[in-house]
Amino acid sequence: MANSPHGGILKDLVARDAPQHIALAEEARGLKDVFLTERQLCDLELILNGGFSPLEGFMNERDYKSVVETLRLAPTNGHRQGTLFPIPITLDVSQEDIDRLELQPGARVALRDFRDDAALAILTVEDIYRPDKALEAEKVLGADDKAHPAVAYLHNQTKEFYVGGKVQAVQAPTHYDYVSLRFTPAELRAHFKKLAWRKVVAFQTRNPMHRAHRELTVRAARQHRANVLIHPVVGLTKPGDVDHYTRVRAYQALMPSYPEGLAHLALLPLAMRMAGPREAVWHAIIRKNYGATHFIVGRDHAGPGKNSQGKDFYGPYDAQELVTQYKDELDIEMVPFQAMTYLPGSDEYQPVDEVPKGTPTADISGTELRKRLRTGAAIPDWFSYNGVVKVLRDSYPPRPKQGFTILLTGLHNSGKDTIARALQVTLQQHGGRSVTLLLGEQIRAELSPELGYSPDDKHTNSVRIGFVASELTKAGAAVIAAPTAAYERSRKAIRDAVTGPGGNFFLVHVATPLEHCQKADRRGLYKRARTGELDDYEAPTNADFTCDLRTDSVPEIVHSIIMILESQNLI
Ligand code: ADX
Repeated sequence: MANSPHGGILKDLVARDAPQHIALAEEARGLKDVFLTERQLCDLELILNGGFSPLEGFMNERDYKSVVETLRLAPTNGHRQGTLFPIPITLDVSQEDIDRLELQPGARVALRDFRDDAALAILTVEDIYRPDKALEAEKVLGADDKAHPAVAYLHNQTKEFYVGGKVQAVQAPTHYDYVSLRFTPAELRAHFKKLAWRKVVAFQTRNPMHRAHRELTVRAARQHRANVLIHPVVGLTKPGDVDHYTRVRAYQALMPSYPEGLAHLALLPLAMRMAGPREAVWHAIIRKNYGATHFIVGRDHAGPGKNSQGKDFYGPYDAQELVTQYKDELDIEMVPFQAMTYLPGSDEYQPVDEVPKGTPTADISGTELRKRLRTGAAIPDWFSYNGVVKVLRDSYPPRPKQGFTILLTGLHNSGKDTIARALQVTLQQHGGRSVTLLLGEQIRAELSPELGYSPDDKHTNSVRIGFVASELTKAGAAVIAAPTAAYERSRKAIRDAVTGPGGNFFLVHVATPLEHCQKADRRGLYKRARTGELDDYEAPTNADFTCDLRTDSVPEIVHSIIMILESQNLI
């Protein structure tokens, strides 16, 4: 039998307010709008569906302060100690928002989805207060250190004021991805009931799952005679994590490795805070609301990584300790695990505390895995599953499959176009990628017909080239762009747009001197040009390769560029 929700009643606000949905939607049309941020949207979804039971809205100042200081909502008549809730759930606004929305106690505002403007809920303002962000960081996240992603978020993105108040549901946020894997707490509870699952051990994750994780969950299931809920977070996780589309495909690839009927995959639209111990208690509460009876807390649960001194923010088992401290109130049983490690001798995984001394072990770290994906090096069967590895390889192609942009910069008539065309056919001959040529004149005609030749117009033209080049590069193409790109800031804009995971950028300076370019000018551009239009070229100092058509032949230049690509493992 599923445990009761946190605080006793599942606050399924969407169901609760269903009889009034039409009236509330109508009212929302006439109210001032708050367009929720991604984080606020995740929080609201879990308030509305009961994942955050017993919350019925965003925390008022009393609850907020109490949660920050004591991990509990403010005491009430029914709960003199205050219900356990370790993470503040707050709606942040700016002074400007307060003025524009005329926020004051009693005011009603519509909370809207920023993606489609849909009204999701109506908030009745209870209070507006200014949080002590440094204190919040210190208490909730353990340190006021911006190396912690949630501390950085708090200081850089969170607005200055919080608005407390209960919400009434108009509708749940609409999702278009993996809809069949999204369950509300009520739906998941009903699903478990239908399957006659009495005990369910939930597994929280924000990473692709490999064999270690499968073994950990199966062990937990065996120990507790329970079924398994794979409950990955698909809201916001740690910056830099594998995107949730890739992860969900990886989880789907993993599911067949469980005995049929043992495990169920459902997605959780949570915005993680990476708050380690407090986050583990929060995760336990959420999983209890979703109907799980057991919850796995392993090594470094919801760990944010290193602080600005290079030390871990939390100890590897601090999360287990804090959950243990509150176990009587949690009413969901923690299944603790030490780090799972591979034993090559017996081809199995075991928690390190159960491995006999002296037994050889093996592990592949996250960093090592990313390196193998990057280089295309083998990922052994003992570490993962073919299906999971295939999903990851598709999303993280090795360098020979990654896109790149080569920016040829140089004066008008320096020979950029000739080199670009020769490079294009050479890459087409090589094959393996679609090749795109973005010539200066063509870009001007197709993308920037309204722009002239003032410095700002020229820069804007470059920014557009950067946008197109980066989109194509991300899609795996070879992009050869040959605008003049006269300014350092313009070339930097293109470089910045393209550079990133899977985005490789090379700058080639075609340094044919002005007199030579003028001499080769068959179309009279130099003669027609006004001062400042063609003679304000800033020669780059950071080119990957510099050439000059007076001394280098086109095949030689193409050869050199190809060798640069080869040395970077791109071809
Ligand atoms: S987390 O931020 O969601 O905690 P992750 O998805 O890596 O990150 O971990 C999910 C859960 O599995 C956490 O409880 C974590 O402690 C546990 N875990 C992950 N890898 C291991 C491992 N090798 N050994 C033991 N526990 C692990």
